[in-house]
Parts: sequence; C-alpha cells; structure tokens
Amino acid sequence: MTSRLNPASGHPAEIPEYPMARAAGCPFDPPPALRAKQQEGPLTKVRLWDGSTPWLVTRYAEQRALLADPRVSSDVTRPGYPSPAPVTGSSKVSFILMDDPEHARLRRMVTAPFAVRRVAAMRPAIQKIVDELIDDMLAGPKPVDLVEAFALPVPSLVICELLGVPYADHDFFQDNSKTVIKRDATPEQRSAALGRLAGYLDDLLGEKLADPGDDMLSQLTERIKSGELSRQDAARMGVLLLIAGHETTANMIALGTLALLEHPDQLALLRDADDDTDGERLVASAVEELLRYLHITHNGRRRAALEDIEIAGQLIRAGDGLIMANDIGNRDPEVFPDPDRLDIRRDARRHVAFGFGVHQCLGQSLARLELQIVYSTLYRRIPTLRPAADLEQIPFKHDGSVYGVYELPVTW
Ligand code: HEM
Repeated sequence: MTSRLNPASGHPAEIPEYPMARAAGCPFDPPPALRAKQQEGPLTKVRLWDGSTPWLVTRYAEQRALLADPRVSSDVTRPGYPSPAPVTGSSKVSFILMDDPEHARLRRMVTAPFAVRRVAAMRPAIQKIVDELIDDMLAGPKPVDLVEAFALPVPSLVICELLGVPYADHDFFQDNSKTVIKRDATPEQRSAALGRLAGYLDDLLGEKLADPGDDMLSQLTERIKSGELSRQDAARMGVLLLIAGHETTANMIALGTLALLEHPDQLALLRDADDDTDGERLVASAVEELLRYLHITHNGRRRAALEDIEIAGQLIRAGDGLIMANDIGNRDPEVFPDPDRLDIRRDARRHVAFGFGVHQCLGQSLARLELQIVYSTLYRRIPTLRPAADLEQIPFKHDGSVYGVYELPVTW
C-alpha cells in the first residue's frame, strides 16, 4: 500500500480502509482498528471502496454534534457523500436519504402509528405472536434455527400487520430486502431488488386505493388521493418501512440471544427477573444495553458536509464526506465506563444505536417493545435454551449493512 498524507493529523500515515475487519473470535466487539482510531482522536480519515477519503468520526460527543447539525446532509447524490456502494437511480430509499424540508414532510405522514402510546397498545398482539411462535418451536423438532423459526417472523409479522402487507408474501420481501442490505450485492442486484419491492408495494397501494383497510398503507392512499403524496413516493416509503421494520429487529433478537447465551450471568439476571415493576425495569434496561453493546447498524451513519464546519479543532470542508461510526461511539469510555462489558443493569439509554438528530429511528418505540417482549418471554419459557453449534461455526453477517447472524441453531 502507498503511504499518503493524513490530513486529520498532518502526519504521513496510511489511510485505513473502511469498513474495518472485526477480530476473529470476538463477534460482539467493533473492529480493533476502530478502537485504535478512537484512541487517536475524534476524527480521522478513512478510504472507501471508490478511493474517496471521508472523515471517520469515532467519539460519541462529536458524532452526536454532527448528526444534529443542519449543515450535514443525508442525500446520497450530494458531492462527497460517502456511499457504501455505487449510487444508482434507485438508491434513494425514501426519506431516510433525504434532507429537510422534504424529509420532514414525508416523515410526518407516517409518525403517528409509531408514537409511544399507539405502539404500547400493540403489546397484547405482539405478545401473542411471540407466544405462538415459541409454542410452535417447542412442538417441533430440535435443534432449530432461531433466525428462521423466531427472530425473523416476530418483526415481520408485526410490520406486516401495521402496514397491511400480507405475511404470506414474506419469502418474497425477505429475500429482496436481504439483497438490498447485502454489502457485496452489485448495484444491478440492489437496484433490481428495490425495483421488485417498489413494484410489489405499488400493486398493494393500487388494491388499497380501491378498497382501503385499517392499516398504514391505506392511510397513505388518502394522501395520494389528496395530492399530498405521489404513488411512487408512497411505494418507496412502504419499501423503507418494510425493510427497516423487520431486518434490524430480527438481527437484534438473534444476535441479542447469542450474546446473552455467551454471557450466562446476564442471561440468568434476565430470566430470573420478577413480573413486577423492578423486573420490567430490568428488561427495559437489558434492551438498551444490548442495543448499545451490539450496535447492529455497523456501517456508520453516512453524511456529506454542506458547509465548512469546525469541530474538535478540525476543519471539515463543504463537500467532505462524514461517517459517524456509532458502533465505536457506543463503546466510548468517556460516556460508558468499562464499555466492552455487557452489563444489563447499567443505564445505557444514551446510546446512539437508533442514530441521533432528525433521522433518529422512527420505529424505535416499536423496536423497543418487540425486544422487551421477546427478551422477557423467550428465556423464561425455554430456560434451558442453548446454542446447538460452536461459536466458530455460526455464520455472522460481516457482509451486510446490518450486523447479525445468518443462522443460530439452538436446542433446549
Ligand atoms: C432494533 C431495531 C432497530 C434499529 C437498531 C434501528 C436503527 C436505526 C438507525 C440507526 C436509524 C438512523 C439512520 C440514519 O441516521 O441515517 C434508523 C432510522 C429509521 N428507522 Fe430504524 N431501527 C430499528 C428498528 C426500526 C423499526 C422497527 C422501524 C419500523 C418501521 C424502523 C424504521 C426506521 C425509519 C423509517 C428510519 C428513517 C428515519 C428518518 O430518516 O427520519 N426502524 N433506524
């Protein structure tokens, strides 16, 4: 490799490639090279697949400051945007990749169903889904793949119900969303998968325009009829919600379970929690800690600077790319003492696993509720749950934009 001048420090240095590799045998920890960068300082340069050298922001305080700064853009088509893959016509996955005011206008159309109170009312329905899937698992053969039997169906069933998407089509949308978030999918593969999903959502919107039901897509058809929203934008929004609604939570369920099984003292605390307020508090705290500790959206929050920004003694120029490595931000010792320890009793609520600023996760109340129900039910109902494979045999999602496991064989 050739040596370059590192503009972050002013010293000649290798500019490391991003994303960085995790250490072998340490599946829950961010890459050691990322930790080393954090120790060097809050901002450094990295090199991407296309040779560009955006800033990598490794410390919690600077990450939050920049994510809340209106001078940074989420628009993939902006000069300098550090895209994880070549940008194509269909790269715009609705408002997650837009800036205000258009981002806010579209996001507002779908915020109501994700409000804390509305989500809390879904508790009995989600509990029923979780209980029935565990019944099926207990009645079926062992060992079983927890991802397929449980982790994926829970959030898929929930988001289908909320959006009004038939769960019978889950093979179709799960396969296509897998391609969308696969890091090594070619641009053509990703475009084709997004196109198929958008076509599918467009057909569904067509049906609901003619015969509306009591679901989110039907509510969006009202906006189409009033001229506030184009049918294409509604379909794209549907794709975003469908993908975001199940991929992330599914990975948190499977990887979270594996992390707990690998930390039996923490699992015991959770399993033995009483059904009272203290028990509920411990479950809620475990969810926050696992979100912090695992930080599954491990490809960083990507942004482009719209103006010159001075931060931490460094000048970021308009047009520079920015990657907030929130996985290492969640392990910042200034904010979370002894950050590499999984401790479900710590107060981890300040984590950035749901991002920060205007794009902070829209579905966070729903994700929290699903995870609280899962973590408080699965290990109590199957107290002897254990992996049916060695850690080295479990396939981790190093190649995806969402980290997790492809399979988790378990038995009891
Ligand atoms: C544990 C599960 C989840 C995690 C870790 C997670 C993580 C995130 C993160 C980090 C962002 C910020 C992206 C950015 O700043 O560029 C985000 C945004 C988003 N999430 Fe989630 N998410 C989860 C579950 C969900 C669920 C269940 C939904 C429901 C549909 C959802 C919908 C969204 C949407 C629509 C956005 C875009 C918000 C915007 O741009 O204004 N997420 N999520």
